[in-house]
Order: sequence, then C-alpha cells, then structure tokens
Amino acid sequence: MLPTKLFAVVALLPFVLAWQRPYRRDIVVRDSCGNEYTTTETAAPTTTTAQPTTQSTSNPLTAQSTTTVAPVSSTVAPISSTTAATSTTKTTTTSSAPATSTVPAGFVKASGTKFTLDGEQYCFAGMNAYWVPQLVLESQYDATFALLASIGVRVLRTWAFSMVTAVPSYDMTYYQLWSGSNFTINEGANGLERLDLTVKYAEKYGIKLIMTLANQWSDFGGMEMYLSQTGGDTTYHSNFYTYQPAITAFESYINTIVTRYKSSTTVFAWEIANEPRKSGDKPADPNFTVAQLTQWISDRAAYIKSIDSNHMVAIGDEGFYNWSNNTNVAYDGYAGMDFEANLKLSNIDFGTFHLYPEAWGETPAEEWGLGYIQAHINSMNEIGKPVVLEEFNMNTYAEQLATLPSWIDLAISGGLSGWMPWGLGAEDLSVTGSSVWQGGGSDSMDLYASKSDIWSILKADGAIMNTKCPL
Ligand SMILES: *[C@@H]1O[C@H](CO)[C@@H](O)[C@H](O)[C@H]1NC(C)=O
Ligand SMILES: *[C@@H]1O[C@H](CO)[C@@H](O)[C@H](O)[C@H]1NC(C)=O
Ligand SMILES: *[C@@H]1O[C@H](CO)[C@@H](O)[C@H](O)[C@H]1NC(C)=O
Ligand SMILES: *[C@@H]1O[C@H](CO)[C@@H](O)[C@H](O)[C@H]1NC(C)=O
Repeated sequence: MLPTKLFAVVALLPFVLAWQRPYRRDIVVRDSCGNEYTTTETAAPTTTTAQPTTQSTSNPLTAQSTTTVAPVSSTVAPISSTTAATSTTKTTTTSSAPATSTVPAGFVKASGTKFTLDGEQYCFAGMNAYWVPQLVLESQYDATFALLASIGVRVLRTWAFSMVTAVPSYDMTYYQLWSGSNFTINEGANGLERLDLTVKYAEKYGIKLIMTLANQWSDFGGMEMYLSQTGGDTTYHSNFYTYQPAITAFESYINTIVTRYKSSTTVFAWEIANEPRKSGDKPADPNFTVAQLTQWISDRAAYIKSIDSNHMVAIGDEGFYNWSNNTNVAYDGYAGMDFEANLKLSNIDFGTFHLYPEAWGETPAEEWGLGYIQAHINSMNEIGKPVVLEEFNMNTYAEQLATLPSWIDLAISGGLSGWMPWGLGAEDLSVTGSSVWQGGGSDSMDLYASKSDIWSILKADGAIMNTKCPL
C-alpha cells in the first residue's frame, strides 16, 4: 500500500518519527485525456508530539484525498468486466505435482496456476501487517500471530526493510543505518533480531511470510533514499532503477536478508519491492521505458534466485497493465509497469496485484474492482502462473462491509491462489506504562477484531478459501 489513502499510518507513542518525508511535494495528476498537471501538497510537518503520527503522501497515479485537486474520473470504461463469478472450481489433483521439482520439502512452489506444498495444492487467506517487525516484546509477536491464526490466515505479508540515516531517538526497528554512501546492518535487538522474532512466531502458528525487500514509497526508507545516499541524481525516481551504485547497495541488502532466511520454510516468498512504479515522490525520467523497468525486475529476481533457488520470488506490484487499447491509468502503462510482461519473466514465480479504486479515482469502486480482479484472473489463465490479490481495501467501514465480500468471492471463484486484505490493526498489544511500539495505527482501513462484522466476514471467507486446499 502506498502511504496515501490516509494509510501507512505509523503510531509511535510518544516518539517522533525519524524518517519523516518532505511535506511539500509536487503531485503529477493526469486526466483521462492524458493531460498532466502538477499540484503541490503541503502539510504541517510532524514535529514532537505525544500523539500518534499519521503520515500521508499522495499517489502520483491519480489525485488523492490529501491533495487539493479533485480526482479526475476517467470517462473511459476501464475494462469490460465480466464479473459473473463463473465458478470454475478447479480441483487440482494432488497427483499433478511435477516429479521434476527440485524444491526441498516444506517450500511452497508454483505449479501451473496453483501453488503446491509437498505435492498438495496450497492456497491461502492472507493478511498484510507491515508493522509486525516493529513490535518490541515477544508477547506482542505471539499475540499478533495468534490473532492471525484465529481467522485462518496462512500467509502474512510484512516489510523486511527499514532504513534510517541516523540512529532513531526511540525504539524503532531498523536494519540499515546509512553513513554517507555506505550502510551498516543492524543485527541487534532493535534490528534483525526482530525480523528473527517475526519468523519465529510465524512458524509457531504455522503461518508463512511474504517478505518485502524495498519500498517504492519513502516510509521506512525507500528507493529514493538508496538513490540519494549513493550519490545518484535524484531528479527522477526512475534513476533508482538505472544508477548502478544504488542497485549494488540494494543487492547487498538483499543478500543479507535472503541469506539469513534462505533455509526457512516459514518464508513463503521474497518480494522485490512494495509497489514499484517508474515515478514516486519524484517523477519519472520521460525517457524511462516500461521495458527498462521490466528488465530491472528481471535482473533483481535473477539475483535473488542466484542466492536462494528454493523460495519463490514475486514483485509486490499493483498489477498495472501496459495496454494500448485502454486509456485508464491502471491499464495504459502510465505507472511504467506491464503486468503481463513481468509475470512472464522466468524468475518471477507468481503475480501480485493491489486494489484501491478510491485512491486511484476509479468509479464505481466495487464494479471497477471486480473488473480489475477479472483482468488478473484472465492473465493468470493466459500466462499460466498463480496470481495473488495482495492488497485491497476500501476507505470506510461501511464501504468495506458493502464491497469486500464480492471482491473476495470473485477472487475465490476465479481461482486466485490467495487474497490478502490491507491490513491488520493491532489491539490489545499495548504494554501499560511502557513506551514501546503499539502496533497498527488509526487508519480507517485497519481491520480490528472489534470491527466484528468485517472480522466475521474475513473469518468465514478465510475458511471457504482454506477448505479449497486443506493442509
Ligand atoms: C564506503 O565504503 C568504501 C569501501 O569500504 C570506502 O572505500 C568508502 O570510503 C566508504 N565511503 C564512505 C562515505 O564512508
Ligand atoms: C530524452 O531523450 C531525448 C532524445 O534522445 C533527449 O534529447 C532528452 O534530453 C532526453 N531527456 C532526458 C530527461 O534525459
Ligand atoms: C508497453 O507498451 C509499449 C507501447 O505500446 C510497448 O512498446 C512495450 O513493448 C510494452 N511493454 C513493455 C514491457 O515495454
Ligand atoms: C486490450 O488489450 C489487451 C492486451 O492485448 C487484451 O488482453 C484485451 O482483450 C484488449 N481489450 C479489448 C477490449 O480489446
């Protein structure tokens, strides 16, 4: 998820965020005619406060609620959505596991449009909780994974990145500390030991992890921090993908993390980055091509596989297409991504896509979302690899109740191998009298157990999903 939608909310009591992003930024907005214009977001800088700090940036794909520019609704139908949930209940027989597999026992692999684990089909109800490795006490890790297990979550997606340019003045988990153009790895109690705890408690509850290795956005450090620290030209976000010192630094970090957990069957897959696009806080070089971003993805996937050939690799992208017959920003290559070309890459094991019609200015949101899900189901079947609906939500609780069930139903009936709402809200993790990370935030998208109606839906749909491939 990108930190727009009033999300990527970070609650740190009573501390100040050290990785504050600049609060004045130019936002490029494009309308349905392809005209681009720029607006400026300004927000009061977050300074010392005893309150939870909400960070918001704007989605450069479309106008955002945090900008002063109203979203431009496309007049072009995004896709002819055949949303009728044709129940093509594909019961993959256990004998379909290829005998040629060299993946050791316990590792999930892709086989056609499905995942398999030790020869059995594997699919999952999942969840996002980027903040888990920010938890401080072991009891909090235990409680979080117990909560996830209680609603049938089999795969959790979380951030395996966090980098800073100065030691935080509070107990924030970070793995990379930059000093000039070099960084050091924080192996300590507020560093990789907390990622170790994440793996330890996931394993205790039989939950697997999608570990995301970098961020498109600036939360917890991002691609533009790699670029600026290594001395690259920060005019364009896309320079991150072409500047060799930034790439080398990122690969050094990849090597550290992937090597550390390469033998762990608790890792479901490595994910190259959260929501890569050609433009981020900074615009894209006008000469930067979709093909260059596809090549960068191909090269990073190959690098991960060169270290660890047993785990799957995915991109972590929003699933944007690069079609010439469609002018909707999610389909026309605007973000610099080509879902189909990327899914065809030999070292990409499965496809990922995210779904935030409101943040992207797509209406009507539910119907548009069904069309986007169906498009990815079609891609899954055409290309023959599994696809996961990896992030999705609506802004308000009422919208969540009205919309999420139909999206999840189509994901299940259409044969997607996993769906993962954004994201878990943590309750009851506070430690009285202790100034530690409390988990979660005040994001309206946070899914709490006390939001009992949506919680019941997730639990019921999770049971339906998991029944399709019993472990
Ligand atoms: C970064 O590390 C390299 C190799 O160890 C070293 O030569 C260089 O001086 C370092 N740069 C900074 C800014 O510390
Ligand atoms: C893009 O390419 C054109 C043609 O080669 C060149 O004139 C222009 O300077 C380039 N723009 C940037 C931003 O590099
Ligand atoms: C994306 O679309 C452009 C324009 O149609 C096309 O040239 C290109 O091959 C497409 N895909 C990639 C990966 O570049
Ligand atoms: C648009 O192009 C894509 C990619 O070639 C294709 O899959 C899709 O069916 C096309 N849609 C229409 C309405 O022609």
